[in-house]
Order: sequence, then C-alpha cells, then structure tokens
Amino acid sequence: MQRDSRSSTSTVKIDERLTDETLADPFLPELYRVVRAATEIPDVVTIDIVPVAGERAAFAAGQFNMLYVFGVGEVAISMSGDPADMSRHVHTIRDVGMVSGALTRLKEGDVLGVRGPFGTGWPVLEAEGLDVVMVSSGCGLAPLRPAIYHVLNNRERYGRVSILLGFHSPDDLLYRQEFEQWRQRLDIDLLVTVNHADRSWRGNVGGVQVQGFIKRGNFDPRETLAMVCGPEGKMRYMANSLRDAGVPEERIYFSMERNMKCAMGICGRCQFGPEFTCKDGPVLRFDRISHILAVREI
Ligand SMILES: Cc1cc2nc3c(=O)[nH]c(=O)nc-3n(C[C@H](O)[C@H](O)[C@H](O)COP(=O)(O)OP(=O)(O)OC[C@H]3O[C@@H](n4cnc5c(N)ncnc54)[C@H](O)[C@@H]3O)c2cc1C
Ligand code: FES
Repeated sequence: MQRDSRSSTSTVKIDERLTDETLADPFLPELYRVVRAATEIPDVVTIDIVPVAGERAAFAAGQFNMLYVFGVGEVAISMSGDPADMSRHVHTIRDVGMVSGALTRLKEGDVLGVRGPFGTGWPVLEAEGLDVVMVSSGCGLAPLRPAIYHVLNNRERYGRVSILLGFHSPDDLLYRQEFEQWRQRLDIDLLVTVNHADRSWRGNVGGVQVQGFIKRGNFDPRETLAMVCGPEGKMRYMANSLRDAGVPEERIYFSMERNMKCAMGICGRCQFGPEFTCKDGPVLRFDRISHILAVREI
C-alpha cells in the first residue's frame, strides 16, 4: 500500500515514519478524502470518499467500513454506493451521536480514516435465477442500495424484481433522484410507501406492509430470495410476513447492526448469540437468527 505524504491535508499529517510493517496493521486506518458531502434529509448526509493514495478497496454489496474521525472516534457504516463503481466509496450516515454527528459534518476536502471492508454481503449470486424481493424501512435503504445497484446492473440474471421501500414521511425519502430513475424502469416492481403523507404525496400511504406487496402477485414466494433491512422490530415483522407467504426461511436475509470495536471477530463487542455480527454478519440468514432475534441486547 502506498501513502503519499504530499497528499496530506490540514486535517491530518501523515507520519513519514510509517513502515510497511505498521501499514500492514489491520487496526491502522487508510486515509480517504471526502470529495462530495450531500445532505439527504436534515440529519442524514451522504459522503463520497476516495483514497488519498491508491485505489479504493473492492467490496461486496452488504459489507461495511469502519470510519474514523480523527480525535473523535470510529464507527461501523455500511457501504451504500455501487460496488461496480471503483472510483469511490459512498456512505450514508444518520447523526445519532458523537462519531456519526462528526461524520455528517465532514466537508469536501476533509480526510478521515477507513478500515475495511468487513463482513458478509447480500446473497446476490445465490439469488440469480430467482425472483428477488428487496424491502427496507427508513435508513435501512442505505445498506440495501448496493444490492439494488447490483441486481439492476445485472437485471437479466434475475427473475422478477420487487422493491418495497418504507419511510416515515415524504420528507424522509433518501436518494430522491434515484427514485425517479427507478420509477421509469418497466422491469421492476417499485413501491414506495410513507406512514404519514402530506398533500404533495402521490404515492402509497401506510407501513411497510409486505402482505400488500405480496398480494400484488409480482413474485412467486417459493422461488423468491428476500433481502430485508431496517430497524430490528420491523425486519422481524417483514421476515415473518414473507415466511408466512411462502418464502423459505433460508432465503430470507437481514442486515443486523450491533455496536462494534475491532470489526474482525477479536473483541467480542458485537456478539449476537453465537454470531459475531462483524464477521458472521452483518448480512445473516433468517433461519439462523430468528430464535434470538426477539432478544433486545443479547
Ligand atoms: C454493520 C453496521 C452498519 C451500519 N451502517 C450504518 C450506516 O450505513 N449509516 C448509519 O448512519 N449508521 C450505520 N450504523 C450504525 C452506526 O454504527 C451507529 O449509529 C454509530 O455507531 C453511532 O455512534 P455514535 O458515536 O455517533 O453514537 P453513540 O454515542 O454510540 O450513540 C448515540 C445514540 O444512538 C444510539 N445508537 C447507537 N448505535 C445505534 C444503531 N446502530 N441504531 C440505532 N441507535 C443507535 C445509542 O444507543 C445512543 O442512544 C451501522 C452499524 C453497524 C454495526
Ligand atoms: S467488533 Fe470485535 S468481535 Fe465484532
């Protein structure tokens, strides 16, 4: 790995004494620079980041990076960009605390530390030849979006594709411009629903009702693979609905969130029953975790 001290910015001075040995340390972040910071909704920001030196690491849809704001801390944030676009990593961050708040305040040109990618990906290869259902609630769309990109970019490899996205209100919609592009596509069934509509909203109103989606009949549950992402309670409900409709449990996948430290299966911080969310997850199969899913902090 090459690091170029000439590329350092005012935010961080790259230590000239770093050796190849220290650079190989998996706990040592690589330096990335913010090239775009866009507010999606008031407390949610999407940043595009590029390596200060070299190429960005390849990643699979569903994986995450550990993002480090120097002097503040490090948190897990999902990839939310297109895995096929090697020019950058894209992350969408909700400000819920110290580190996530600092990430949302980064500006173009700022440098941050990145470790990763880590974890398991969405089963986009296993889904080939099957109908695909992708369901998200709120910011759960961010970790799901790379899988949506992959399936849409390779549309011919999949059966019918159904995408159900739920938000609290029209003001909470992420990636608005993309919706318009996705809406134009005749080869997917896209349903966007909001809990609370205003007068301007012309779409569906109501929770992420998988049953209603199932009734549209645009996929065959027995030949379907489902990817589900959102708050845990909602994911459990959505997965149960899909299972009750006939989607096999072993073809329903979740993305789980647990606080993390090492992200490499060492510290145990992210343990979820027998699973370490950082290395066995974050994408986990429903039948492997359904028995412990109801436990709030395991
Ligand atoms: C695999 C993985 C992927 C993630 N992807 C994303 C992402 O793409 N975008 C994003 O914004 N966040 C994502 N998160 C969540 C993110 O890591 C946390 O929000 C972050 O750790 C909060 O750190 P903080 O220091 O800002 O807040 P803290 O001070 O740690 O927490 C502030 C408050 O937020 C609550 N909180 C902390 N973490 C979460 C959480 N995961 N869900 C709900 N409430 C929480 C805490 O209980 C506390 O009340 C992901 C987490 C994991 C494990
Ligand atoms: S974060 Fe350390 S084991 Fe998962």
